[in-house]
Amino acid sequence: MNAQKLIDTAKALVADNKGLLAMDESNPTCNKRFAKLNIPQTVDARRAYRELIVTTPGLGECISGAILYDETIRQEKKDGTPFLKVLTDAGIIPGIKVDTGAKDMAAHPGEKITEGLDGLRDRLAEYYQMGARFAKWRAVITIGDGIPSRSCVEANAHALARYAALCQEVGLVPIVEPEVLMDGNHTLEQCRVTTEEVLRSVFNQLNSQRVLLEGMILKPNMVLPGLTCPMQASVDEVANNTVKSLWRTVPAAVPGIAFLSGGQSGELASARLNTMNLRFNSRLPWALAFSFARAIQQPALETWQGKEANVQAAQRALLQRARCNRAARRGEYNAEMEKT
Ligand code: 13P
Repeated sequence: MNAQKLIDTAKALVADNKGLLAMDESNPTCNKRFAKLNIPQTVDARRAYRELIVTTPGLGECISGAILYDETIRQEKKDGTPFLKVLTDAGIIPGIKVDTGAKDMAAHPGEKITEGLDGLRDRLAEYYQMGARFAKWRAVITIGDGIPSRSCVEANAHALARYAALCQEVGLVPIVEPEVLMDGNHTLEQCRVTTEEVLRSVFNQLNSQRVLLEGMILKPNMVLPGLTCPMQASVDEVANNTVKSLWRTVPAAVPGIAFLSGGQSGELASARLNTMNLRFNSRLPWALAFSFARAIQQPALETWQGKEANVQAAQRALLQRARCNRAARRGEYNAEMEKT
């Protein structure tokens, strides 16, 4: 393992107030989002949509790295230029999703375990050869009646740590993503307690699997009340509770924390990230960045609608969200930016 290279890549992913663009939706997830907008669910439509994203002029001003999916990392522009080349030419580091999905966990009704460790070493070596420099693995934790169970949290944390160690062995920076889902009617406080429990378990496992903390990025959820909780939270409450949880659980050696958006609107995700950076920036040991999929892509997808004539307008919508999030890293985002 070349530790210095991992450290340099991890730092580059959160440098200069940029963040990550997650465009690693699996085919079923991408198809589901296309179906909602009556976009054909074909390889070619997915390729065209990903071409729109990677060729967005100016994207590299705000985006340090893009997370791809196995289908996408092998795709090309219509003119034959590989997406990998388009991204690196734009100064964007290519990354790859390597888990094979969250599956029902045996004997644990309502809970999921993420799969993908079998054969992972060989898949990682291939992605590194292709030009990827970081990888992502997502675990999902559900809050509900009597869940999450200790065993679900531990099994997912263990898998994340084994994945992270394998990534570092081959030279890929692991993005470690334990997502506590927003689904449900739990309170902000319940989310905070669960998030802290999950992060404690994840860092115990990362340490026990000898993962170099300086050469990884954490991708957590923000601390939020459940979508159907009657008591919703202010931007300040979300920012305070999220930072409090991270302070308590994430070692200072980790260079960056890049949040997932998890179904929040683009505006709320930007506003919450902005408040965290505005209020706490000088007291944080790690960069607080973003690794959003829906909160960056959704307006662009809705504008595109699968039509060539809408490509430029969709690219403007994508860049707009990327710029808002870069501003949020500096604590300079405001609602006025949504109008430009
Ligand atoms: P969202 O930002 O849409 O939650 O997606 C982030 C992600 O990469 C999910 O794994």
